[in-house]
Amino acid sequence: MRNRMSRIFKAADGRAVMLAVDHGYFQGPTTGLVRPGETIAPLAPLADTLMVTRGVLRTCVDAGLDIPVVLRVSGGTSILKEDLSDEEITVSIRDAVRLNVAGVAMSVFVGSPHERQTIKGLSDLVDEANEVGIPVLAVTAVGKEMVRDARYLGLACRIAAEMGASIVKTYHCDGFESVVAGCPVPVVIAGGKKLVEKDALELTFRAMRDGAKGVDMGRNIFQSDCPVGMIKAVRAVVHDGATVAQGNDVYLAEKNRKAR
Ligand code: R5P
Repeated sequence: MRNRMSRIFKAADGRAVMLAVDHGYFQGPTTGLVRPGETIAPLAPLADTLMVTRGVLRTCVDAGLDIPVVLRVSGGTSILKEDLSDEEITVSIRDAVRLNVAGVAMSVFVGSPHERQTIKGLSDLVDEANEVGIPVLAVTAVGKEMVRDARYLGLACRIAAEMGASIVKTYHCDGFESVVAGCPVPVVIAGGKKLVEKDALELTFRAMRDGAKGVDMGRNIFQSDCPVGMIKAVRAVVHDGATVAQGNDVYLAEKNRKAR
């Protein structure tokens, strides 16, 4: 378990840049991920970890690629439904072991119609994953109309940790320090909907300042007009302590290099 955790959170600083490319499991061929292999190829060498489904892992990621994988193992609903919370575990631990993953990820929907099902599902997944030393990442607060304030996120993150999650993924918010303070395992943030690049770097900077251990970011990287520049910039903020302006310079430098 500790070895796998150290593949996700880098030994030098205990921080992580996870590239989330699992969106297709309920969003289908979403913008930037229509051909996942083409999106992933230039970004993977710059990510610490790839968060992906087994279908995309099998079909779009070279098995020889030396990158830790956090495998999404929940699903069962789609964007066609109003309620996205009706998820269950969709991948066996046996298959996760076969795929040699560093961690498994599932969503918990606290406060939703399927709160109990997903919280119990997390607990069951932790039981199975513990047996083979695989950390579980709990994804909180995915939903169309979710109130993402510190009270709600603090509740959801704490419940996930209490159920045994080794890592919790959530959203940044005002008062994020209290979310982190109440969660005894590392917290990483999702990026959410695509923002202007500088705003996404500001979000990253604030999350790290407020106690996050890293990002598990998708759309703000792969939907950028320069995804490689953006992941380099996010890395600079997460791993190198760059300011927002310095991170933005990293992004712009790559974008201008490509344009020449
Ligand atoms: C959502 O359930 C997925 O796990 C995404 O990976 C997650 O939302 C992070 O991606 P983004 O940064 O695009 O929000």
